[in-house]
Amino acid sequence: MGFAYGEDSQEVSRKVQALPHEGYGQTWAKTILIGEHSVVYGHPALALPLHSLKMQAWATPIASGQQAQLEALDYSGSLEESGGTFGGLKRAVEVTLNFLHHPQQAFNIRTQSDFPAGRGLGSSAAASGAVIRAILDAYDVEVSREQLLDLTNQAEKITHGHPSGLDAATTSGLKPVRLAAGSMSTIQPQGDAYLVIADTGVVGSTKEAVEGVRSRFQEDPTGVGQLMDSLGEQSEAAIRDLENGQMESLGHRMNEAQVLLNALQIGHPKLDLLVETARSCGALGAKLTGGGLGGCVLALASTKEDADRISKALRSDGAQQVWLHQMVA
Ligand code: MEV
Repeated sequence: MGFAYGEDSQEVSRKVQALPHEGYGQTWAKTILIGEHSVVYGHPALALPLHSLKMQAWATPIASGQQAQLEALDYSGSLEESGGTFGGLKRAVEVTLNFLHHPQQAFNIRTQSDFPAGRGLGSSAAASGAVIRAILDAYDVEVSREQLLDLTNQAEKITHGHPSGLDAATTSGLKPVRLAAGSMSTIQPQGDAYLVIADTGVVGSTKEAVEGVRSRFQEDPTGVGQLMDSLGEQSEAAIRDLENGQMESLGHRMNEAQVLLNALQIGHPKLDLLVETARSCGALGAKLTGGGLGGCVLALASTKEDADRISKALRSDGAQQVWLHQMVA
């Protein structure tokens, strides 16, 4: 049984079965090619889904009176008392049960991730998205993509206040997502290239980064506004480069974006180190990806041989994990 988005809430509550079974949901990691932070202010950004890095969630209904449990990352305990890191997950459960008109039903939640949290790879949006899907699945309910994204973004608001919606869309999307001024579309990259994603091992809080940028914007609207405009221009041009297979130009714009992101004060010395390593080993461009203050570096390589060489150098310069992603036309 499923229902279509757009039916009124009375209709929905009549159709949702009373007794859920165990539900399963899956999403994946994302990497932002260009435009992080400035996208929060309406400028364009492009992110790619990383389908090989999965986030899975299971939602198991429990009897009334029992306390819901959460198993996620290194936490195992009460969902209610799970605290700050899991605020988004808790909210994901609440908004989905409210949406289904079953706010009284409790679920044990378990998540399992192929990629680390707090590294700019979209872990929070991916976890919320997977949990939302698991609960909908528990009731055999299908909803539209718009509705899923809306639920995920409601959870993301708890995680970092002003989500652009890019993470929610890309961690559940099939194609590269372009977002600008709230308007989303998918793009088709041209030309073959590889992305090398390297984890500094430093946890970067997206909430802290987004709030830091916001307060600097308030203090210096002209200066920070100019940085945002420049990031927006680089992003717009980089998206065109990708659509036209202009990889060298794209790499150059990634380098420019890295300068601007450092000027926004969301860099980290370990990011700078790995960015330099990647460039000196032949990357066409390299920058941080995601919220910053730690997390991952993203490097663009034109061939598999280059990507392998860059990966090896990144590992020997301290990257904790390195992933390869092939961008195919
Ligand atoms: C976080 O992955 C990307 C940011 O641009 C925030 C957002 O888009 O919501 C920093």
